Amino acid sequence: MNYRHAYHAGNFADCMKHAILVWLLRALARKAAAMFVLDTHAGIGRYRLDEGPAARTSEWRHGIARLLDAPPAPLADYVGLVRELGLYPGSPAIIRALMRADDRLACCELHPEDAVALRRYFLRDRQVAVHHRDGYEALGALLPPQAGRGLVLIDPPYEATDEFERLLAGLRRGHARFRSGVFAAWYPIKHRAPVRAFHAAIKESGLRDVIAVELVLRDPVEPALLNGCGLVIINPPYRFEGEAPALLGALLDRLGTRERGEGAGLLRLADE
Ligand SMILES: C[S@@+](CC[C@H](N)C(=O)[O-])C[C@H]1O[C@@H](n2cnc3c(N)ncnc32)[C@H](O)[C@@H]1O
Repeated sequence: MNYRHAYHAGNFADCMKHAILVWLLRALARKAAAMFVLDTHAGIGRYRLDEGPAARTSEWRHGIARLLDAPPAPLADYVGLVRELGLYPGSPAIIRALMRADDRLACCELHPEDAVALRRYFLRDRQVAVHHRDGYEALGALLPPQAGRGLVLIDPPYEATDEFERLLAGLRRGHARFRSGVFAAWYPIKHRAPVRAFHAAIKESGLRDVIAVELVLRDPVEPALLNGCGLVIINPPYRFEGEAPALLGALLDRLGTRERGEGAGLLRLADE
């Protein structure tokens, strides 16, 4: 396990993932009933950007740094939260900030040091459980939740060459146990072929009501670069298809490279 998220915190991919995450959590919180959130690949929860790993790569300067001043309306909620939370919030901190008194969060993190850091962050928080375990395996073990409604975020590091296959298997397993759950799974766009194959496999999988949203910074022809990223969403909440394009457009406007092939959009992979 070489991947450490601290090097990439606040980059364009984090901004896209977290802005959509905030939208999804707000949508779920529109109903009073309690929700359960499972964050299968959680990281350490919050990150310093001005020193350490993030300062060394400076990826955040092309990400969150470009959103902080006068954020456009569709990003105001996410950016407001980042400002409020101080240190750059990872997914567990964002989720925790939007939970109500009866909501619950389970985080999985397999890296031993990162799991310790995350445990320390949520020490004595009775609404959050931190598991040092494989997040894919947790999709079987921790679902379905007692609450009966909620969100599963799957955000793997893509170190393994078969990560797309593992992700799809995980989505199928998780969804079979928690059919009403909203699932959001992040993927990198380095070049197009693996993403096309992933989308085709989802279409053939029998999963219903699936959407992909993508933010692409340039033609994905150089596979050594993170040229863009996407999120597959199963059971997108009401109004997501209507509102997500404005959010993606605002991200592209601020984070785009103006290089050939940049773009943002939404595509439906499977109907309800
Ligand atoms: C992309 S980062 C997560 C970032 C986090 N979701 C966020 O948005 O702030 C992926 C994390 O997954 C962890 N990881 C890798 N393989 C894992 C596995 N099989 N189960 C759980 N965590 C894993 C890595 O150590 C890393 O911290």
